[in-house]
Order: sequence, then structure tokens, then C-alpha cells
Amino acid sequence: MTTHLPGYFISFEGIDGAGKSTHIDAFGQLLKDRYPDRDVVMTREPGGTPLGEQLRALLLDAPMNLETEALLMFAARREHIAQVIEPALSAGKIVISDRFTDASFAYQGGGRGLSLEKLDHLERWVQGRSDGSLLKPDLTFLFDLPGSIAEARRSKVRAPDKFEQMDLNFFEKVRQEYLRRAKADPSRFYLVDATRTPEVIWGDLQSLEIQL
Ligand code: TMP
Repeated sequence: MTTHLPGYFISFEGIDGAGKSTHIDAFGQLLKDRYPDRDVVMTREPGGTPLGEQLRALLLDAPMNLETEALLMFAARREHIAQVIEPALSAGKIVISDRFTDASFAYQGGGRGLSLEKLDHLERWVQGRSDGSLLKPDLTFLFDLPGSIAEARRSKVRAPDKFEQMDLNFFEKVRQEYLRRAKADPSRFYLVDATRTPEVIWGDLQSLEIQL
């Protein structure tokens, strides 16, 4: 249960090429089948609202100052929370987001080097609720694997976006920050060993008991 809201909030995280997108829709369907009386809202960051999707296009394409990038990520997130996430959780729905704030700590913080203090500040501002709590996922799947394996897996079909073009060293730093956060908050994170085959990973996700 999210901070006094009746819904349940799940996020999927991992470095680009970790394979989370292969499973997220199937996992949404699994929950719909398992809980037919609960609505499941599928969404993503950056994005999830018309404004957020416009900001996504800028964020994934335009070169920009690091602080600008972090502020735009959190601006898109504020809109996402106000328009989609909070209303859905208030109505008792299950929300599944392809990425959330852990990605800002991992990419803008770990990867690009923005101070974690600034990110903490933005998180408190954007996710702070009137009762003093922070809106955070109840459960976060972290698809973890070495940067070199993820690089080999990344789609060679479409042109890579701004983040996907970063080098191995960047993705190793992103990975380490994700792992640091998972270690600091083990009750929220479910670590998925993403070096395994999609079939084995799916078996793992299916067998997980979730207390909504
Ligand atoms: P996606 O490819 O998983 O949809 O994610 C889009 C990219 O945006 C991905 O490379 C990670 C990056 N990103 C950040 O850098 N910071 C954030 O806060 C979020 C949500 C995504």
C-alpha cells in the first residue's frame, strides 16, 4: 500500500538493454488476470501524459545542461503524478510504470554525476505529500546485468537515443547507483538477474507473490 493511498504502485528499472520492456506488458496482463476486479494502469517515464511525452522527445534527443535535464525529468514526473499516478492510486488502481525516480538517481546522479543531494531535494519537492510522506513505488523490479551484456543486447535496428549512445563506463556507473539504492531499500526492490534467458526471468516474475 502506497503512502496512505489504496492503490499499489510498481516500477520497472534497469540500464538500457536489460530487458525490462520484454516483460512489463506481460506482467501487467498477469496482474489483470490475477486480480480481475482491480484496474491496472500501464505508464512510463519520462512520459505518461501529453506534456510528459513532449518532454520525453526533448530529453531523449536534445543535448542539454545536466541540471536542465534533471529539472525536466522531474517536471515531467510532477505532471505524471498529478494527472495519472496519484488519481489512479487514490481510486485503488494498480499502477505499473516503466521507470520512475530511481532512474533519475541512477542516470542523472550515478551516470552523469549530479549531486544526490540535489536529487533528494527534487524528489521531496515533486513527490512530497501533504501528510509529509513521499509518493514512492511499493515495489520496484530492478533488472540487473553488466553493462557489456546490455550493450550487446541493445537494439541494433532503430537509431540509439541520447542515453543509449553513452559508453560502457556510463552504464556501469548507472548500474552501481541502481544497486546501491536497491541495497539501501531491500523491502521495496526485487532484484532480477537479467543475464538469464527471457523464459527463466518470466518464470521468476510469475512465481512472485505480491501482497496488494
Ligand atoms: P526507456 O528507454 O526505458 O523508455 O527510458 C528512456 C531513457 O531515459 C533511458 O535511457 C533512461 C532515461 N531516463 C533518465 O535518464 N532519467 C529518468 O529519470 C528517467 C525516467 C529516464
